Amino acid sequence: GENIVVKDLAEKLNLNVSQVITKLIGMGVMATQNQSIDGETAAIIAEKFGAAVEFIPVETNDVSEDNFGLDFVDKDEDLKLRPPVVTVMGHVDHGKTSLLDAIRQTSVTKSEAGGITQHIGASVANINNKKIVFLDTPGHEAFTSMRARGAQVTDIAILVVAADDGVMPQTIEAINHAKAANVPIIVAINKIDKPTANIDRIKQELVENGLIPEDWGGNTITVPVSAKQKIGIDDLLEMILLVAEIGELKANPNRRAVGTIVEAQLDKGKGPLATVLVQKGTLKVGDMVVSGTSSGRIRAMLDDKGKRVKKAGPSIPVMILGLSEVPNAGDLLYCVEDEKTARNIADKRRDKIREEQMKLSSKVSLDDLFEKI
Ligand code: GTP
Ligand code: MG
Repeated sequence: GENIVVKDLAEKLNLNVSQVITKLIGMGVMATQNQSIDGETAAIIAEKFGAAVEFIPVETNDVSEDNFGLDFVDKDEDLKLRPPVVTVMGHVDHGKTSLLDAIRQTSVTKSEAGGITQHIGASVANINNKKIVFLDTPGHEAFTSMRARGAQVTDIAILVVAADDGVMPQTIEAINHAKAANVPIIVAINKIDKPTANIDRIKQELVENGLIPEDWGGNTITVPVSAKQKIGIDDLLEMILLVAEIGELKANPNRRAVGTIVEAQLDKGKGPLATVLVQKGTLKVGDMVVSGTSSGRIRAMLDDKGKRVKKAGPSIPVMILGLSEVPNAGDLLYCVEDEKTARNIADKRRDKIREEQMKLSSKVSLDDLFEKI
């Protein structure tokens, strides 16, 4: 069940930590302020002080932290530069989709024109032989739901602010998300083609929200753009590559792959489909993988243009076919040694979920019982 650190419990109960420890000792529980106690004990303590404990059910299918030792830290000498993964965020209607479209058009090469366009929740732009990966998932989601699962997929946030509208509530929310994730922000001041556009006013509002533009003596890169008229798009891409270079984004491409599920769905004909953003190692057709309770051998992989590929290295998004069930967006995907290992891990996670659900339902029925008394 749920555990809580004694100190945190005292804080939540608005008590001195020694008061809590004394009560614990009275119950025969010896714990220091930094040790954790189980939820049941915490509930009893709370009750003794006239407070009630509310059990908030954990998302039962979230088993991402439970990686069965599948991940390990790479040696510095094995790390190679990888493309940046970029998320576009901003207020409603400020032009996020238009900007992504403009970038895609600018960067689509002729050879790609024949490929089947298939939406895979992420796209790769090629700029002078350098790649930039854009996550198409709604900006906030890429931060919130994935971060809640411990996955950080974004390297750089593009904050779109419409020059005729300014900093709005969702702009501020986006700034907070990016700051919480410790991700650098590049501001794209969009819609500069509009007669009512006022770039200086936007910069002033950015300052008011803690982002001081470079040309005003701060360190926030701002790029005036028009997604509609395709103005400033190259400058923006250049700035992304610059920020990526400064960040020295690296990963080891020569190891078993670890990635994050960006998007997943069930296709009637093809079965479960999942878009994976590879983060470490190289994912290959034929690899055995496990994500949550889903496992399987990769039958085929498609790149962001819908083209079949055999492998995908760090930062590269691919759609994979071959999983046993639809995995959860935000969950990690691990490449494992063999089928037995994959099945074993998926089974153990399934058991754990079942166990947690049972605990939860017995808890609920107990609560129901007490309510009736
Ligand atoms: P949501 O996904 O609904 O939050 O909106 P969004 O941020 O993706 O904005 P979207 O790209 O859909 O653009 C909203 C409107 O602004 C559309 O009507 C676009 O045509 C318009 N728009 C986007 N960029 C520009 C621009 O650079 N100039 C002008 N004049 N209009 C733009
Ligand atoms: Mg949009």
